[in-house]
Amino acid sequence: MAKNFLRIAAVYFCIGVIIGITMGIVQDFRLASVHAHFNLLGWVSMALFGLIYHFYPQAADTKLAKTHFWLHNICLPLMQGGLAVMLLTNDEKTLLPLVIVSSLLLVIGVLLFTVNLFRALASSSAKKEQNNSIGA
Ligand code: HEM
Ligand code: HEM
Repeated sequence: MAKNFLRIAAVYFCIGVIIGITMGIVQDFRLASVHAHFNLLGWVSMALFGLIYHFYPQAADTKLAKTHFWLHNICLPLMQGGLAVMLLTNDEKTLLPLVIVSSLLLVIGVLLFTVNLFRALASSSAKKEQNNSIGA
């Protein structure tokens, strides 16, 4: 899970910076928001998910983590791909619902991640306390 998040994060980094440099070259900044979110939700957030799952492997091995992984990775390309086409074609009627639904599902994924992380942190501090009381 951690490695998959890190691998895909690096791919989003490539997509993000390629959009950035292309905007600069052609001097068309319509996709600034798409560039920002591929970099921030794709590269930065996913790299953090990967590192967190590396340091808390018990959190990586849960149904919540898997559901979060799939929600994030299905919804981010739909949300930002849909937004990119919408910004370039001005076709809000067809694409706005896709952008809204995929954004909401991505937010649900982030909520699942938060619950999962809180649970893992609670169980790791409970284990530490148990070890301390055995050691005492
Ligand atoms: C080679 C790398 C990059 C290039 C060439 C690049 C280029 C650009 C360009 C041309 C813009 C549009 C500026 C404008 O609208 O006036 C922009 C906006 C932005 N970039 Fe990058 N960028 C790069 C990397 C990154 C990275 C790594 C991040 C985040 C981790 C990032 C975050 C942002 C954000 C948040 C905006 C939006 C700012 C706004 O809308 O006001 N960029 N970038
Ligand atoms: C489901 C998640 C998210 C949604 C639906 C969302 C939505 C939005 C929207 C609607 C805007 C205004 C865009 C505009 O004015 O053209 C925006 C801007 C921005 N968001 Fe997000 N955002 C999300 C997650 C994030 C995250 C996780 C970060 C940072 C880690 C972030 C950083 C930014 C920044 C820097 C801007 C201003 C730059 C820009 O104009 O694009 N967003 N976001």
